[in-house]
Amino acid sequence: MTPNNQAAYLLKAGTPLELRNAPLPTAGPGELVVKNAAIAINPLDWHMADTGVFIQQWPAIFGCDVAGEVFEVGPGEERFKKGDRVIGHAINLTSGRPQDGAFALYTVIPATKAAILPTSISFIDGVVVPFAFEAALCVLSSKEPGVAMPGVSTPALGLPYPSLEAVPSLGKTLVVYGGSSSVGSMTTQLATAAGIHVISIAGKSNFGFSKRCGAIEVFDHKDLSVVEKTIEAVRKSGHVFIGIFDAIGSPETFANDLAILAALGGGHLACTHPPPADVPANVKAGMIFAVSDVATPVWKDYLTPALETGKLQCLPHPTVVGKGLEHIQSALEKSKAGVSATKLVVEL
Ligand SMILES: NC(=O)c1ccc[n+]([C@@H]2O[C@H](COP(=O)([O-])OP(=O)(O)OC[C@H]3O[C@@H](n4cnc5c(N)ncnc54)[C@H](OP(=O)(O)O)[C@@H]3O)[C@@H](O)[C@H]2O)c1
Repeated sequence: MTPNNQAAYLLKAGTPLELRNAPLPTAGPGELVVKNAAIAINPLDWHMADTGVFIQQWPAIFGCDVAGEVFEVGPGEERFKKGDRVIGHAINLTSGRPQDGAFALYTVIPATKAAILPTSISFIDGVVVPFAFEAALCVLSSKEPGVAMPGVSTPALGLPYPSLEAVPSLGKTLVVYGGSSSVGSMTTQLATAAGIHVISIAGKSNFGFSKRCGAIEVFDHKDLSVVEKTIEAVRKSGHVFIGIFDAIGSPETFANDLAILAALGGGHLACTHPPPADVPANVKAGMIFAVSDVATPVWKDYLTPALETGKLQCLPHPTVVGKGLEHIQSALEKSKAGVSATKLVVEL
């Protein structure tokens, strides 16, 4: 019997999502259909719901993070089989196709953006990983600047991929501003696994969390001396200063970024939002666009063994908002109100 698919549809920007029956998607070449067991919420989602930005087809199904069982494998795809437990990054953001949105019972994902979830990890824990994982790789590993949006290039830090082995220090320091955020904490984990020394800036109550992700030192974003303390810590590290990943992108964090970079002779400023327009010549500023082939080898070769061995932790921990697609709307509202070192998850 053909299963019934349902989705949380956005009919018009600024209106609540509506639950409706949806066509059961099929897997094309290189694709999987996942029967979702859990989906996660990202700030991008409420931004899309509020403004309609990035939506290419109405009514829209969007959302980026899924965890569940493979329901159908597309032609030519040999890494996965029906019934496999997977996590995946759904790419409605770039494809615009409703079947590529996470907020449904069944979602199409590219096999290159999926990984087997070890049986020891629940769907609820695993679903915090996909979008943040790809975003972190866009921060760290792109070698050449691309186009994030008209007039804004992507950062090109060109750092090595994370390793499953213990790696020697690269002798380089990266500052992660927003170390307790989903993308900031994942960047901290992956940078650390590549031998990079991470100094992070986070809320005082999340120092332990950021250190668990690998940060060597953490400073309080509310500390009035955060800039001076960060500069001193980078100098004391004795390493080459790579620059800053700013996961937050507020006027305050940008001002602090530029002050830190000015004192340390410049460097990269990788952002999740468009960086300030006029940066000094010694600052290479860019904004990530977190659907990128740079992540493909890491999805394929790193993610599952890293989860199996605990090298990569499913952090930040999930907060389950409810069970059923009808809870996505309140999860979006909670995300918009702001979270601290957690990822909002809806179980299905
Ligand atoms: N361009 C892209 O492709 C892309 C991809 C992914 C995400 N994003 C964007 O990146 C941003 C982060 O996303 P996310 O999912 O990682 O966010 P998130 O997990 O929802 O962020 C919450 C965290 O932000 C921290 N925070 C808030 N203000 C801060 C400040 N002034 N200094 C330091 N930390 C601060 C909080 O820290 P404390 O609780 O410790 O205070 C909290 O833990 C969002 O705006 C998102 O839309 C963009």
